[in-house]
Amino acid sequence: MARKIIIAGNWKMHKTNAEARQLANQIKMKATDIRQAGIILCPPFTALAAVYETIKDTGIGLGAQNMFWEKEGAFTGEISAGMIKSAGAGYVIIGHSERRQYFGETDETVNKKIKAALENGLNPIVCVGESLQQREENITREVVTRQIKGALDGLKPADMQHIIVAYEPIWAIGTGKTATPQQAEEVHGQIRTVLTEMFGQEVAEQVIIQYGGSVKPENARELLSQPNIDGALVGGASLKADSFAGIFQTAEQLSVSKKT
Ligand code: PGA
Repeated sequence: MARKIIIAGNWKMHKTNAEARQLANQIKMKATDIRQAGIILCPPFTALAAVYETIKDTGIGLGAQNMFWEKEGAFTGEISAGMIKSAGAGYVIIGHSERRQYFGETDETVNKKIKAALENGLNPIVCVGESLQQREENITREVVTRQIKGALDGLKPADMQHIIVAYEPIWAIGTGKTATPQQAEEVHGQIRTVLTEMFGQEVAEQVIIQYGGSVKPENARELLSQPNIDGALVGGASLKADSFAGIFQTAEQLSVSKKT
């Protein structure tokens, strides 16, 4: 069976509740004819409930951008998987490079968060990707392999149906500099090889691997046409309904025609 193409919007630290409601509503209007492709919106925590109310009767998914692995307790400022679930979300981005870079997340903490998300019925969108320096040192494959193995350590093959992987080269995030479709496809293929080693081919073939890093309507078609690119995690271009819709409409067209 073909892998579904899923486009997720990572709103990062943008949008008040009123703005989030408005954007979600505009996206909802533009998504009425989307049947094959998947759409997920990831607003900030504060807007989860507002966006949920706006999209609950649609096929659009809702995700948070981070979580803590403990269930509850004296962890001021943190939010648990159960709380995210109770706000109506089904997904959570884990290990985004901005969290690794600015908030000290490691493969180990990413792994703990993924396990806690799965225990609570959330589907993690697990982010990996190399820095510019690492790419220039030709260690992209090693870096991404280590991140995948660390993030997914201890998971069972059956868990993988709940996991989305997002390959986001750090040098392409928010920079306007996209990986070429060939560069992205190469790493996506390597990730699938690692997943095959860890969980077997049948499981690895079903895992959705998104690309992230300056995806916009103009480059979406070429990226999403690659055999191992199954979607996109979109930052900047997800903050406006028109540009985000340009991407998921391309995904819809390709879903109708695409791949194995
Ligand atoms: P960008 O962000 O599309 O603005 O490059 C992608 C991301 O960080 O998820």
